[in-house]
Amino acid sequence: MNPLLKLAAVLSVALVANTAAQAQDCQVSTTEPFDLTEADIASIYDCIGDRMVDAYSQGGDMVAKNYRNWTITGTRHGVAGAHGNRLLLTYANDIAAEQYLKFAEEGVVMPVGSRLAKESININKKKNAAVVGPLFIMTKLEAGAANETNDWLYSGIQPNGKPLKFKQSFCHDCHQGWEDQDFLAYPLEEVRVSN
Ligand code: HEC
Repeated sequence: MNPLLKLAAVLSVALVANTAAQAQDCQVSTTEPFDLTEADIASIYDCIGDRMVDAYSQGGDMVAKNYRNWTITGTRHGVAGAHGNRLLLTYANDIAAEQYLKFAEEGVVMPVGSRLAKESININKKKNAAVVGPLFIMTKLEAGAANETNDWLYSGIQPNGKPLKFKQSFCHDCHQGWEDQDFLAYPLEEVRVSN
């Protein structure tokens, strides 16, 4: 083959491979989460949304498989700063939804069995891409079941489907700040679903 043609062939293979990698990677226009526009967030979610559930569900976890059928509490993912500057969107199960969606600020008592699952998207600066972050879960236990955490059980699932490991106090030390809201922080006001 003519050396120039050969070079062109090699280059085009490289280009195709590169495009395929990009399609897989969900490229972002900025790696600064706070600078993402609503349109950026929408296109990130278009790219990664289905992949998130597949990722969380790999270990067969029932919350991972079902949470997208719960009540969505935000109009889109928000960047609150907490939870590692990730893009966050929370779902509430049937027991939690009615009370949670009031976003009440005082005297909140969530019913036993309430569950909130918050999916997250990480902006990976090296890859210049959005990647799946952990699924964070809170479950309200019966009164007296977990005194140190005011009867909340914190759990999580990694993007490989395995449980996230941490001490309960790691989560509760921060959530403790929202005592009047039964330790729930709620989504950013601008993304709350109005009821
Ligand atoms: C540094 C503070 C901080 C820490 C630590 C923290 N959270 Fe949160 N959490 C927040 C804030 C702020 C929100 C609301 C953010 C949003 O959705 O925009 C939130 C929301 C949540 C929600 C949705 C329910 C709600 O509060 O409205 C879940 C579920 C959750 N966190 C689980 C966890 C778990 C599990 C851990 C530990 C692995 C954890 N959190 C650690 C601050 C924290």
